[in-house]
Amino acid sequence: MPAITLVGAQWGDEGKGKATDLVGNRVDYVVRYQGGNNAGHTVVIGEQKYALHLLPSGILSPDVVPVIANGVVIDPGVLFEELRGLNERGVDTGNLLISANAHLIMPYHRALDKVSERFLGKGRIGTTGRGIGPTYADKISRAGVRVQDMFDPKILRQKIELALHDKNQILTKVYNRRALELEQIYEEYLGYAEQLRPFVADTSLILNKALDDGKTVYLEGSQGTLLDIDHGTYPFVTSSSPTSGGACAGAGIGPTRITKVVGILKAYTTRVGSGPFPTELHDEQGEWLRRQGGEYGVTTGRNRRCGWFDAPIARYATRVNGITDFFLTKLDVLSGLDRIPVCVGYDAGGTRHDEIPMTQTDFHHAVPVYEYLDGWHEDISHARSFDELPKNAQTYVRTLEEMAGAPISAIGVGPGRDQTLELRSLV
Ligand code: GDP
Ligand code: IMO
Ligand code: MG
Repeated sequence: MPAITLVGAQWGDEGKGKATDLVGNRVDYVVRYQGGNNAGHTVVIGEQKYALHLLPSGILSPDVVPVIANGVVIDPGVLFEELRGLNERGVDTGNLLISANAHLIMPYHRALDKVSERFLGKGRIGTTGRGIGPTYADKISRAGVRVQDMFDPKILRQKIELALHDKNQILTKVYNRRALELEQIYEEYLGYAEQLRPFVADTSLILNKALDDGKTVYLEGSQGTLLDIDHGTYPFVTSSSPTSGGACAGAGIGPTRITKVVGILKAYTTRVGSGPFPTELHDEQGEWLRRQGGEYGVTTGRNRRCGWFDAPIARYATRVNGITDFFLTKLDVLSGLDRIPVCVGYDAGGTRHDEIPMTQTDFHHAVPVYEYLDGWHEDISHARSFDELPKNAQTYVRTLEEMAGAPISAIGVGPGRDQTLELRSLV
Protein backbone atom coordinates (compact mmCIF):
# COMPACT_ATOMS: atom_id res chain seq x y z
CA MET A 1 0.00 0.00 0.00
CA PRO A 2 2.45 2.72 0.99
CA ALA A 3 5.04 4.43 -1.16
CA ILE A 4 7.76 6.10 0.88
CA THR A 5 10.09 8.68 -0.55
CA LEU A 6 13.62 9.26 0.69
CA VAL A 7 15.24 12.59 -0.11
CA GLY A 8 18.56 14.22 0.63
CA ALA A 9 17.87 17.36 2.66
CA GLN A 10 21.09 19.27 1.92
CA TRP A 11 23.62 19.16 -0.97
CA GLY A 12 23.93 15.38 -1.25
CA ASP A 13 26.06 12.79 0.54
CA GLU A 14 23.82 12.92 3.59
CA GLY A 15 23.92 9.14 3.98
CA LYS A 16 21.03 8.14 1.71
CA GLY A 17 22.68 4.82 0.81
CA LYS A 18 22.92 3.81 4.42
CA ALA A 19 19.33 4.91 5.12
CA THR A 20 17.97 2.86 2.22
CA ASP A 21 19.98 -0.15 3.24
CA LEU A 22 18.61 0.14 6.77
CA VAL A 23 15.04 -0.42 5.58
CA GLY A 24 16.07 -2.91 2.87
CA ASN A 25 14.61 -5.92 4.61
CA ARG A 26 11.30 -4.17 5.30
CA VAL A 27 10.35 -2.99 1.81
CA ASP A 28 9.52 -4.78 -1.42
CA TYR A 29 10.81 -2.40 -4.10
CA VAL A 30 13.60 0.20 -4.02
CA VAL A 31 13.31 2.65 -6.89
CA ARG A 32 15.77 5.19 -8.29
CA TYR A 33 13.67 7.96 -9.89
CA GLN A 34 16.20 10.56 -11.08
CA GLY A 35 19.88 11.24 -11.67
CA GLY A 36 22.37 8.80 -13.06
CA ASN A 37 25.88 7.68 -12.22
CA ASN A 38 26.65 11.11 -10.75
CA ALA A 39 25.40 9.62 -7.47
CA GLY A 40 27.74 7.95 -5.02
CA HIS A 41 26.02 6.02 -2.26
CA THR A 42 28.02 4.13 0.32
CA VAL A 43 26.61 1.09 2.05
CA VAL A 44 28.60 -0.64 4.77
CA ILE A 45 27.53 -4.18 5.65
CA GLY A 46 29.77 -5.76 8.27
CA GLU A 47 33.31 -5.61 6.88
CA GLN A 48 32.08 -5.03 3.34
CA LYS A 49 31.84 -1.56 1.83
CA TYR A 50 29.91 -0.95 -1.39
CA ALA A 51 29.86 2.21 -3.51
CA LEU A 52 26.80 2.43 -5.73
CA HIS A 53 26.48 4.99 -8.50
CA LEU A 54 23.61 4.06 -10.76
CA LEU A 55 21.99 1.08 -9.09
CA PRO A 56 19.42 1.54 -6.30
CA SER A 57 20.93 0.89 -2.88
CA GLY A 58 18.24 -1.75 -2.33
CA ILE A 59 20.12 -4.05 -4.72
CA LEU A 60 22.13 -5.28 -1.72
CA SER A 61 18.99 -6.57 0.03
CA PRO A 62 18.20 -10.03 -1.40
CA ASP A 63 14.42 -9.78 -1.09
CA VAL A 64 14.08 -6.35 -2.64
CA VAL A 65 13.26 -5.72 -6.29
CA PRO A 66 15.55 -2.87 -7.38
CA VAL A 67 14.11 -0.59 -10.03
CA ILE A 68 15.69 2.02 -12.29
CA ALA A 69 12.65 4.06 -13.24
CA ASN A 70 11.90 6.35 -16.18
CA GLY A 71 13.34 9.49 -14.58
CA VAL A 72 16.87 8.11 -14.42
CA VAL A 73 19.52 8.59 -17.11
CA ILE A 74 21.50 5.44 -17.84
CA ASP A 75 25.03 5.02 -19.14
CA PRO A 76 24.82 1.37 -20.26
CA GLY A 77 28.58 0.77 -20.07
CA VAL A 78 28.60 1.98 -16.48
CA LEU A 79 25.51 -0.06 -15.65
CA PHE A 80 27.10 -3.33 -16.80
CA GLU A 81 30.36 -2.48 -15.08
CA GLU A 82 28.55 -1.86 -11.80
CA LEU A 83 26.51 -5.05 -12.16
CA ARG A 84 29.66 -7.05 -12.92
CA GLY A 85 31.39 -5.59 -9.86
CA LEU A 86 28.52 -6.66 -7.60
CA ASN A 87 28.20 -10.11 -9.19
CA GLU A 88 31.90 -10.71 -8.58
CA ARG A 89 31.27 -9.99 -4.90
CA GLY A 90 28.43 -12.50 -4.79
CA VAL A 91 25.49 -10.06 -5.03
CA ASP A 92 22.60 -11.41 -7.08
CA THR A 93 21.36 -8.69 -9.43
CA GLY A 94 19.03 -10.85 -11.51
CA ASN A 95 15.81 -9.20 -10.36
CA LEU A 96 16.75 -5.65 -11.41
CA LEU A 97 14.08 -3.85 -13.44
CA ILE A 98 14.80 -0.99 -15.84
CA SER A 99 12.23 1.32 -17.39
CA ALA A 100 11.91 1.26 -21.17
CA ASN A 101 11.39 5.03 -20.95
CA ALA A 102 14.63 5.90 -19.15
CA HIS A 103 16.99 8.02 -21.24
CA LEU A 104 20.47 6.93 -22.27
CA ILE A 105 23.68 8.82 -21.64
CA MET A 106 25.50 8.82 -24.98
CA PRO A 107 29.24 9.41 -25.64
CA TYR A 108 28.47 12.91 -26.97
CA HIS A 109 26.76 13.80 -23.67
CA ARG A 110 29.90 12.89 -21.74
CA ALA A 111 32.06 14.82 -24.21
CA LEU A 112 29.84 17.92 -24.03
CA ASP A 113 29.71 17.83 -20.21
CA LYS A 114 33.49 17.94 -20.07
CA VAL A 115 34.12 20.60 -22.72
CA SER A 116 31.40 22.95 -21.50
CA GLU A 117 32.77 22.79 -17.96
CA ARG A 118 36.25 23.59 -19.25
CA PHE A 119 34.84 26.48 -21.24
CA LEU A 120 33.08 27.91 -18.15
CA GLY A 121 36.45 28.20 -16.40
CA LYS A 122 35.99 29.88 -13.01
CA GLY A 123 32.22 29.85 -13.53
CA ARG A 124 32.13 26.05 -13.83
CA ILE A 125 29.52 24.05 -11.95
CA GLY A 126 31.97 21.36 -10.95
CA THR A 127 29.88 18.58 -12.46
CA THR A 128 30.81 14.95 -12.09
CA GLY A 129 31.58 14.87 -15.83
CA ARG A 130 29.27 11.91 -16.39
CA GLY A 131 27.14 13.58 -19.07
CA ILE A 132 24.15 14.12 -16.79
CA GLY A 133 23.27 17.72 -17.78
CA PRO A 134 23.53 17.24 -21.57
CA THR A 135 21.44 14.03 -21.38
CA TYR A 136 18.62 15.74 -19.50
CA ALA A 137 18.89 18.73 -21.85
CA ASP A 138 18.28 16.40 -24.81
CA LYS A 139 15.40 14.74 -22.96
CA ILE A 140 13.68 18.08 -22.45
CA SER A 141 14.37 19.24 -25.99
CA ARG A 142 12.92 15.93 -27.25
CA ALA A 143 16.16 14.80 -28.85
CA GLY A 144 16.99 12.05 -26.36
CA VAL A 145 17.57 8.35 -26.92
CA ARG A 146 15.56 6.04 -24.67
CA VAL A 147 16.20 2.48 -23.52
CA GLN A 148 13.43 1.20 -25.77
CA ASP A 149 15.08 2.75 -28.83
CA MET A 150 17.86 0.19 -28.55
CA PHE A 151 15.38 -2.53 -29.53
CA ASP A 152 14.59 -0.89 -32.86
CA PRO A 153 17.90 -0.69 -34.78
CA LYS A 154 16.47 1.61 -37.43
CA ILE A 155 15.18 4.13 -34.90
CA LEU A 156 18.39 3.89 -32.85
CA ARG A 157 20.52 4.71 -35.87
CA GLN A 158 18.24 7.56 -36.92
CA LYS A 159 18.28 9.12 -33.47
CA ILE A 160 22.04 8.95 -33.11
CA GLU A 161 22.49 10.34 -36.62
CA LEU A 162 20.17 13.24 -35.88
CA ALA A 163 21.88 13.97 -32.58
CA LEU A 164 25.36 13.88 -34.11
CA HIS A 165 24.27 16.28 -36.81
CA ASP A 166 24.42 19.18 -34.37
CA LYS A 167 26.56 17.70 -31.55
CA ASN A 168 29.48 17.22 -33.92
CA GLN A 169 29.13 20.78 -35.15
CA ILE A 170 29.36 22.01 -31.56
CA LEU A 171 32.21 19.69 -30.62
CA THR A 172 34.32 20.54 -33.66
CA LYS A 173 33.43 24.17 -34.41
CA VAL A 174 32.82 25.59 -30.93
CA TYR A 175 35.16 23.47 -28.84
CA ASN A 176 37.72 22.36 -31.39
CA ARG A 177 37.31 18.67 -30.56
CA ARG A 178 37.18 15.63 -32.78
CA ALA A 179 33.84 14.60 -34.27
CA LEU A 180 32.27 11.39 -32.96
CA GLU A 181 31.58 8.48 -35.33
CA LEU A 182 27.99 7.41 -35.99
CA GLU A 183 28.85 3.77 -36.78
CA GLN A 184 30.96 3.34 -33.69
CA ILE A 185 28.27 4.64 -31.33
CA TYR A 186 25.52 2.73 -33.13
CA GLU A 187 27.39 -0.58 -32.91
CA GLU A 188 28.29 -0.04 -29.27
CA TYR A 189 24.69 0.71 -28.21
CA LEU A 190 23.22 -2.03 -30.37
CA GLY A 191 25.61 -4.36 -28.55
CA TYR A 192 24.13 -3.34 -25.22
CA ALA A 193 20.56 -3.99 -26.35
CA GLU A 194 20.50 -7.76 -25.91
CA GLN A 195 22.31 -7.56 -22.59
CA LEU A 196 19.78 -5.04 -21.35
CA ARG A 197 16.63 -6.71 -22.67
CA PRO A 198 16.01 -9.15 -19.76
CA PHE A 199 15.86 -6.25 -17.30
CA VAL A 200 13.59 -3.92 -19.26
CA ALA A 201 9.97 -3.57 -18.17
CA ASP A 202 7.00 -1.22 -17.82
CA THR A 203 8.16 -0.21 -14.37
CA SER A 204 5.34 2.28 -13.76
CA LEU A 205 2.77 -0.48 -14.32
CA ILE A 206 4.67 -2.91 -12.10
CA LEU A 207 5.01 -0.39 -9.25
CA ASN A 208 1.35 0.60 -9.37
CA LYS A 209 0.27 -3.04 -9.33
CA ALA A 210 2.62 -3.71 -6.44
CA LEU A 211 1.06 -0.83 -4.50
CA ASP A 212 -2.42 -2.19 -5.29
CA ASP A 213 -1.27 -5.54 -3.88
CA GLY A 214 -0.21 -3.93 -0.60
CA LYS A 215 3.53 -3.99 -1.26
CA THR A 216 5.89 -1.29 0.04
CA VAL A 217 7.71 0.82 -2.50
CA TYR A 218 10.70 2.87 -1.43
CA LEU A 219 11.56 5.74 -3.76
CA GLU A 220 15.20 6.59 -3.34
CA GLY A 221 16.21 10.12 -4.32
CA SER A 222 19.77 10.72 -5.37
CA GLN A 223 21.52 14.05 -4.83
CA GLY A 224 19.98 16.53 -2.40
CA THR A 225 17.27 19.18 -2.19
CA LEU A 226 19.71 22.05 -2.75
CA LEU A 227 20.94 20.36 -5.94
CA ASP A 228 17.41 20.18 -7.38
CA ILE A 229 17.03 21.87 -10.78
CA ASP A 230 14.03 23.90 -9.52
CA HIS A 231 14.61 24.22 -5.80
CA GLY A 232 18.38 24.14 -5.55
CA THR A 233 21.06 26.79 -5.83
CA TYR A 234 20.64 27.18 -9.59
CA PRO A 235 22.73 27.04 -11.75
CA PHE A 236 24.97 25.16 -9.30
CA VAL A 237 22.66 22.15 -9.28
CA THR A 238 22.17 18.85 -11.01
CA SER A 239 19.80 18.61 -13.98
CA SER A 240 16.94 16.63 -12.40
CA SER A 241 14.46 16.75 -9.50
CA PRO A 242 15.66 14.82 -6.46
CA THR A 243 12.97 16.53 -4.34
CA SER A 244 9.96 14.42 -3.43
CA GLY A 245 7.77 15.86 -6.20
CA GLY A 246 10.25 14.42 -8.70
CA ALA A 247 9.55 10.93 -7.38
CA CYS A 248 6.08 10.82 -8.93
CA ALA A 249 7.13 11.97 -12.39
CA GLY A 250 10.33 9.95 -12.23
CA ALA A 251 8.67 6.68 -11.23
CA GLY A 252 5.23 6.98 -12.79
CA ILE A 253 3.16 6.82 -9.62
CA GLY A 254 0.61 9.33 -8.33
CA PRO A 255 1.25 11.67 -5.38
CA THR A 256 -1.67 10.14 -3.45
CA ARG A 257 0.38 6.92 -3.14
CA ILE A 258 3.08 8.53 -1.04
CA THR A 259 2.47 8.27 2.67
CA LYS A 260 5.83 9.29 4.08
CA VAL A 261 8.75 11.46 3.04
CA VAL A 262 12.00 10.74 4.87
CA GLY A 263 14.61 13.50 4.73
CA ILE A 264 18.24 12.51 5.22
CA LEU A 265 20.04 15.24 7.11
CA LYS A 266 23.70 15.36 8.08
CA ALA A 267 24.48 16.74 11.55
CA TYR A 268 26.67 19.31 9.75
CA THR A 269 26.82 20.35 6.08
CA THR A 270 28.90 19.33 3.06
CA ARG A 271 28.89 20.17 -0.61
CA VAL A 272 30.83 18.95 -3.66
CA GLY A 273 31.30 21.26 -6.63
CA SER A 274 30.76 25.00 -6.96
CA GLY A 275 28.02 27.28 -5.63
CA PRO A 276 26.95 29.14 -2.52
CA PHE A 277 27.42 27.51 0.87
CA PRO A 278 27.08 30.06 3.69
CA THR A 279 28.37 27.94 6.59
CA GLU A 280 31.42 26.64 4.71
CA LEU A 281 34.59 26.61 6.79
CA HIS A 282 37.83 27.52 5.05
CA ASP A 283 40.01 26.98 8.10
CA GLU A 284 41.38 24.22 10.33
CA GLN A 285 37.87 23.56 11.64
CA GLY A 286 36.67 22.65 8.14
CA GLU A 287 39.67 20.37 7.67
CA TRP A 288 38.84 18.74 11.03
CA LEU A 289 35.26 18.04 9.92
CA ARG A 290 36.51 16.60 6.61
CA ARG A 291 38.93 14.29 8.38
CA GLN A 292 36.54 13.24 11.13
CA GLY A 293 33.68 12.64 8.70
CA GLY A 294 35.77 11.15 5.87
CA GLU A 295 34.29 13.77 3.58
CA TYR A 296 35.80 12.77 0.26
CA GLY A 297 33.57 12.22 -2.79
CA VAL A 298 32.51 8.65 -3.57
CA THR A 299 32.15 9.37 -7.29
CA THR A 300 34.94 11.81 -8.10
CA GLY A 301 37.21 11.53 -5.05
CA ARG A 302 37.08 15.31 -4.60
CA ASN A 303 37.40 16.87 -1.14
CA ARG A 304 33.93 17.76 0.08
CA ARG A 305 33.50 21.33 1.26
CA CYS A 306 32.51 21.23 4.94
CA GLY A 307 30.61 23.56 7.26
CA TRP A 308 28.28 23.77 10.24
CA PHE A 309 24.63 22.75 10.33
CA ASP A 310 22.37 25.23 8.57
CA ALA A 311 18.85 25.32 10.04
CA PRO A 312 17.16 27.44 7.32
CA ILE A 313 18.30 24.84 4.78
CA ALA A 314 16.81 21.99 6.80
CA ARG A 315 13.57 23.94 7.17
CA TYR A 316 13.54 24.65 3.46
CA ALA A 317 13.95 20.92 2.76
CA THR A 318 11.02 20.18 5.07
CA ARG A 319 8.91 22.67 3.16
CA VAL A 320 9.66 21.81 -0.45
CA ASN A 321 9.61 18.05 0.12
CA GLY A 322 6.85 17.76 2.72
CA ILE A 323 9.24 15.83 4.96
CA THR A 324 7.45 13.78 7.60
CA ASP A 325 10.55 12.27 9.26
CA PHE A 326 14.22 13.08 9.40
CA PHE A 327 17.13 10.66 9.62
CA LEU A 328 19.94 12.65 11.22
CA THR A 329 23.26 11.10 10.16
CA LYS A 330 26.87 11.42 11.33
CA LEU A 331 26.14 12.72 14.80
CA ASP A 332 29.18 10.73 15.96
CA VAL A 333 31.44 12.92 13.81
CA LEU A 334 30.78 15.93 16.05
CA SER A 335 32.13 14.27 19.22
CA GLY A 336 35.07 16.22 20.64
CA LEU A 337 33.84 19.80 20.31
CA ASP A 338 33.38 22.14 23.28
CA ARG A 339 30.63 24.02 21.53
CA ILE A 340 28.93 23.57 18.19
CA PRO A 341 27.82 26.49 16.03
CA VAL A 342 24.42 26.11 14.34
CA CYS A 343 23.35 28.59 11.67
CA VAL A 344 19.92 30.03 12.50
CA GLY A 345 19.68 32.73 9.82
CA TYR A 346 21.77 34.97 7.59
CA ASP A 347 22.87 38.53 7.24
CA ALA A 348 22.90 39.65 3.61
CA GLY A 349 23.95 43.25 3.02
CA GLY A 350 22.75 44.30 6.46
CA THR A 351 19.37 42.59 6.16
CA ARG A 352 18.54 39.69 8.46
CA HIS A 353 17.05 36.59 6.78
CA ASP A 354 15.45 33.81 8.82
CA GLU A 355 14.86 31.73 5.69
CA ILE A 356 16.92 31.18 2.52
CA PRO A 357 16.93 34.57 0.75
CA MET A 358 14.73 34.79 -2.32
CA THR A 359 17.53 35.74 -4.70
CA GLN A 360 20.68 33.82 -5.44
CA THR A 361 22.67 37.06 -5.22
CA ASP A 362 21.63 37.50 -1.59
CA PHE A 363 22.33 33.85 -0.86
CA HIS A 364 25.81 34.21 -2.35
CA HIS A 365 26.49 37.05 0.08
CA ALA A 366 24.71 35.51 3.06
CA VAL A 367 26.79 35.53 6.23
CA PRO A 368 25.58 32.96 8.74
CA VAL A 369 24.19 34.02 12.10
CA TYR A 370 25.18 31.38 14.64
CA GLU A 371 23.81 30.06 17.90
CA TYR A 372 26.19 27.94 19.94
CA LEU A 373 25.21 24.64 21.50
CA ASP A 374 27.28 22.80 24.09
CA GLY A 375 29.25 19.90 22.63
CA TRP A 376 30.24 16.51 24.04
CA HIS A 377 33.47 14.55 24.10
CA GLU A 378 32.27 10.96 24.52
CA ASP A 379 32.54 8.46 21.65
CA ILE A 380 28.89 7.81 20.79
CA SER A 381 29.44 5.25 18.03
CA HIS A 382 28.40 2.42 20.38
CA ALA A 383 25.17 4.05 21.56
CA ARG A 384 22.11 2.06 20.57
CA SER A 385 19.34 4.12 22.14
CA PHE A 386 18.64 7.83 22.51
CA ASP A 387 19.05 7.56 26.30
CA GLU A 388 22.63 6.36 25.84
CA LEU A 389 23.61 9.62 24.16
CA PRO A 390 25.30 12.28 26.33
CA LYS A 391 22.84 14.96 27.47
CA ASN A 392 24.40 17.61 25.21
CA ALA A 393 24.10 15.34 22.17
CA GLN A 394 20.43 14.79 23.04
CA THR A 395 19.92 18.55 23.27
CA TYR A 396 21.72 19.03 19.92
CA VAL A 397 19.31 16.56 18.28
CA ARG A 398 16.22 18.07 19.88
CA THR A 399 17.28 21.60 18.95
CA LEU A 400 17.89 20.63 15.32
CA GLU A 401 14.54 18.88 15.24
CA GLU A 402 12.76 22.00 16.43
CA MET A 403 14.61 24.17 13.93
CA ALA A 404 14.08 21.77 11.01
CA GLY A 405 10.34 21.53 11.58
CA ALA A 406 9.88 17.74 11.39
CA PRO A 407 10.58 14.92 13.85
CA ILE A 408 13.98 13.23 13.85
CA SER A 409 13.00 9.58 13.69
CA ALA A 410 16.45 8.04 13.33
CA ILE A 411 20.01 9.00 14.25
CA GLY A 412 23.22 7.71 12.70
CA VAL A 413 26.18 7.16 15.01
CA GLY A 414 28.47 5.40 12.52
CA PRO A 415 28.54 4.05 8.97
CA GLY A 416 27.59 0.48 9.92
CA ARG A 417 24.16 -1.06 9.44
CA ASP A 418 23.70 -1.43 13.19
CA GLN A 419 24.95 2.07 14.05
CA THR A 420 21.52 3.63 13.91
CA LEU A 421 19.10 4.67 16.62
CA GLU A 422 15.63 4.25 15.14
CA LEU A 423 13.31 6.26 17.39
CA ARG A 424 10.27 5.64 15.17
CA SER A 425 10.02 3.20 12.29
CA LEU A 426 11.14 4.73 9.00
CA VAL A 427 8.80 2.44 7.06
P1 GDP B 1 24.83 9.39 0.01
O1 GDP B 1 25.37 9.87 -1.29
O2 GDP B 1 23.77 10.28 0.56
O3 GDP B 1 24.40 7.96 -0.03
O4 GDP B 1 26.05 9.49 1.05
P2 GDP B 1 27.57 9.04 0.79
O5 GDP B 1 27.64 7.57 0.83
O6 GDP B 1 28.13 9.75 -0.38
O7 GDP B 1 28.28 9.72 2.04
C1 GDP B 1 27.93 9.39 3.34
C2 GDP B 1 29.15 8.78 4.05
O8 GDP B 1 28.92 8.77 5.44
C3 GDP B 1 29.42 7.35 3.68
O9 GDP B 1 30.80 7.12 3.74
C4 GDP B 1 28.70 6.55 4.77
O10 GDP B 1 29.27 5.28 4.99
C5 GDP B 1 28.91 7.44 5.94
N1 GDP B 1 27.86 7.44 6.96
C6 GDP B 1 26.51 7.35 6.79
N2 GDP B 1 25.88 7.51 7.97
C7 GDP B 1 26.86 7.72 8.90
C8 GDP B 1 26.85 7.99 10.31
O11 GDP B 1 25.82 8.09 10.95
N3 GDP B 1 28.08 8.16 10.91
C9 GDP B 1 29.26 8.09 10.22
N4 GDP B 1 30.40 8.28 10.88
N5 GDP B 1 29.29 7.84 8.90
C10 GDP B 1 28.11 7.67 8.25
P1 IMO C 1 24.91 11.68 -4.02
O1 IMO C 1 23.88 10.75 -4.58
C1 IMO C 1 27.06 15.45 -4.06
C2 IMO C 1 26.88 17.78 -7.75
C3 IMO C 1 28.18 17.92 -8.51
C4 IMO C 1 27.98 19.30 -9.12
C5 IMO C 1 26.49 19.31 -9.44
C6 IMO C 1 26.16 19.00 -10.89
O2 IMO C 1 26.18 10.99 -3.68
O3 IMO C 1 24.35 12.54 -2.94
P2 IMO C 1 26.16 16.74 -12.29
O4 IMO C 1 27.28 15.80 -12.65
O5 IMO C 1 25.05 16.11 -11.54
O6 IMO C 1 25.67 17.52 -13.48
O7 IMO C 1 26.84 17.83 -11.30
O8 IMO C 1 25.89 18.35 -8.59
N1 IMO C 1 26.48 16.39 -7.46
C7 IMO C 1 26.59 15.82 -6.27
N2 IMO C 1 27.12 16.29 -5.11
N3 IMO C 1 26.52 14.21 -4.09
C8 IMO C 1 25.96 13.74 -5.23
O9 IMO C 1 25.29 12.59 -5.30
C9 IMO C 1 26.01 14.55 -6.41
N4 IMO C 1 25.59 14.38 -7.67
C10 IMO C 1 25.87 15.52 -8.31
O10 IMO C 1 29.28 17.87 -7.66
O11 IMO C 1 28.22 20.29 -8.15
MG1 MG D 1 27.19 10.42 -2.13
